[in-house]
Amino acid sequence: MAKIALGVTSSVSIYKACEILRGFQKAGHEVQAVMTRNAARLVSPLLFSSLSGRKAIVDMFADDLPWSVAHVALAKEIGLLVVAPATANIIAKFARGIADDFLSTFYLAVEGPVLIAPAMNAAMFLHPKTQANVRELRSRGVEFVEPGRGYLACGDEGVGRLAEPGEIVARGLELLRRSESLRGRTVLVTAGPTREPLDPVRFLSNRSSGKMGYEMAREAIARGARVVLVTGPVAIFPPAKAEVVRVETAAEMEAAVLREFPQADFVVMAAAVADFRFAAPAGRKIKKPDLPDSLALVRTPDILKSLGGRKTTQYLVGFAAETENLRENALAKVKAKNLDFMVANDVAAEGVGFDSDDNQALLIDAAGAAAPTAKMSKRELSREIWDAIEKAHARRR
Ligand code: C5P
Repeated sequence: MAKIALGVTSSVSIYKACEILRGFQKAGHEVQAVMTRNAARLVSPLLFSSLSGRKAIVDMFADDLPWSVAHVALAKEIGLLVVAPATANIIAKFARGIADDFLSTFYLAVEGPVLIAPAMNAAMFLHPKTQANVRELRSRGVEFVEPGRGYLACGDEGVGRLAEPGEIVARGLELLRRSESLRGRTVLVTAGPTREPLDPVRFLSNRSSGKMGYEMAREAIARGARVVLVTGPVAIFPPAKAEVVRVETAAEMEAAVLREFPQADFVVMAAAVADFRFAAPAGRKIKKPDLPDSLALVRTPDILKSLGGRKTTQYLVGFAAETENLRENALAKVKAKNLDFMVANDVAAEGVGFDSDDNQALLIDAAGAAAPTAKMSKRELSREIWDAIEKAHARRR
């Protein structure tokens, strides 16, 4: 059973944190309570220590912590961080990366799932700063249990009441399950553009940033998969635990993909493979006067299509960037390339798709059922896509 860290901050609803702690324990999980100094003024840490059977952590520099660099060591031990109740202050600190006590420092070291249950006065929760901080954290993959409406400690009525402990525990357990859902699976992801050289200084390419593919890789890792990321040249960092294979051309990408394909359970082709390459690339820079008026291009191999022809048990996910008739065009590609799943993007829409941090997609399974997503960050969208892929994959078997 995974260990869970329960972050507790100084909202009046702090008394409900005991019930949350108990809920996780009942589900068989060990809980480590982490309290802010202000939370420890409202309720004695002894209460949380007694309930959990482990000394609640408050002070970053306490000399009785069982680890030498406690915030990092604990971050590696846990499968989930739940902050409930979460004040406006801790949400703001997480959003800005401020690390001035144990909980906020610990948050920065946590790589696994994080669930936040806010609790505060309605005006504070609806304040544009708090809302912006919530959005910021969401776009980075943090999940929230929305506060409810009702009677608040300050005497006001409104939104800001801590969600029910049972709901928080259920969401936490769901996040834990998801963090294991691809355990034992190998996922092959391609991302970014390819570059087709004319000579050592000039090339043909496209506007792909690689962000969507990198987020698909990151999410698969977050679900426990082994991930091989075959990537074209991009300006972003790959997820730390991905096995990265760097390629330039479509031909190199094809070779790398074919090498990894037999071991893969899922293949996610998010790369924007150039459709053409120069027919006769030169080994040296072609002097301008020597450049012909027009250059011959030849088609690159359709990597995904050839995978569709050779797949055995692999689940094939394609991406399609379209500017019109999204569903029809995407469905035609599912058939033509023998795919199991398709993520279709409308690249003509504002603020989504190529090079953007946000995206919106139509998710299509092999039976042709299509579900549109809302517009969200590519980080959040990768989660929706994987949820849909896993569901469709389970139906297939
Ligand atoms: O046919 P179209 O390029 O729109 O199909 C897009 C899908 O096919 C993407 O998943 C892309 O990675 C893949 N593709 C490929 N090889 C190509 C072109 C596209 O694998 N040469």
